[in-house]
Amino acid sequence: MSDEDLELLKFYHEVGVDCTLTEGEEEKKVENKEDSKAVQPPVTQVANTGKDADSSVTRWNDTKGGKEQQTMFPSDWIIEARKLASKCSSVDELRSAVVSFEGCEIKKTATNTVFSDGNPNAKIMLVGEAPGGNEDLQGIPFCGASGMLLDKMLGAINLDRTKVYISNTVFWRPPGNRKPTDLELDMCRPFVEKHIALVSPQILILVGGIACYSLLDNTKTISTLRGRFHTYTNQYLSHSITTAAIFHPAYLLRQPAQKRLAWEDLKKIRDYLQ
Ligand code: URA
Repeated sequence: MSDEDLELLKFYHEVGVDCTLTEGEEEKKVENKEDSKAVQPPVTQVANTGKDADSSVTRWNDTKGGKEQQTMFPSDWIIEARKLASKCSSVDELRSAVVSFEGCEIKKTATNTVFSDGNPNAKIMLVGEAPGGNEDLQGIPFCGASGMLLDKMLGAINLDRTKVYISNTVFWRPPGNRKPTDLELDMCRPFVEKHIALVSPQILILVGGIACYSLLDNTKTISTLRGRFHTYTNQYLSHSITTAAIFHPAYLLRQPAQKRLAWEDLKKIRDYLQ
């Protein structure tokens, strides 16, 4: 048995191996839910003007003469998010801005804002999809079943949460764990972009199809984006960041045969970091 085979077996042992399909069967059986967002048409609620009266919010602004009423439409909140994110010069400031941001509907049904976990000085930053039930209750990203598998995957390449920094594409749990809408992604993206720029990691790891859709390429599936490195940049970065896409652990829990490909991706990341 080659060293590579041994490593793969060790990885299976660490993250759990739950099926023994051959390669051909694997390809046939996989209905890649991970890929679904990239092939969906955009959510029209966002794409139009963002001036849908049903989703407007009235807020009171402080002015010199007292209080002034302002109707905020979704498109206004996206602009507001960008303004707020642009002003932040530290991760702590950004956290406060996100916690007090009132534009995102999913905040209303969430228990906590889920901002980040891990080491903000790490050279590895992971961005996942959205908080789930456990994350919502504890305010910590990836602290449920997916998080346990993510920790094992990181452990397999000698990483843990003291060596990585973790956040998501949205900061609140979408009700029923549905996927975030385009509007929710658009509203959180200014904060996410600033987050990445403030942490300025050596490598950005996009965990799952939604993170790829929101930050890398909304026309390609994760299956086509994984397995190679990309360059990521945004308006706050003065340099581009090497970026990898990996399957989401929730997807790997549903499709354990894909752990073999996940291991290929993790090895590439490990080699890049060495
Ligand atoms: N899945 C994610 O993408 N993020 C979390 O924080 C938890 C589960």
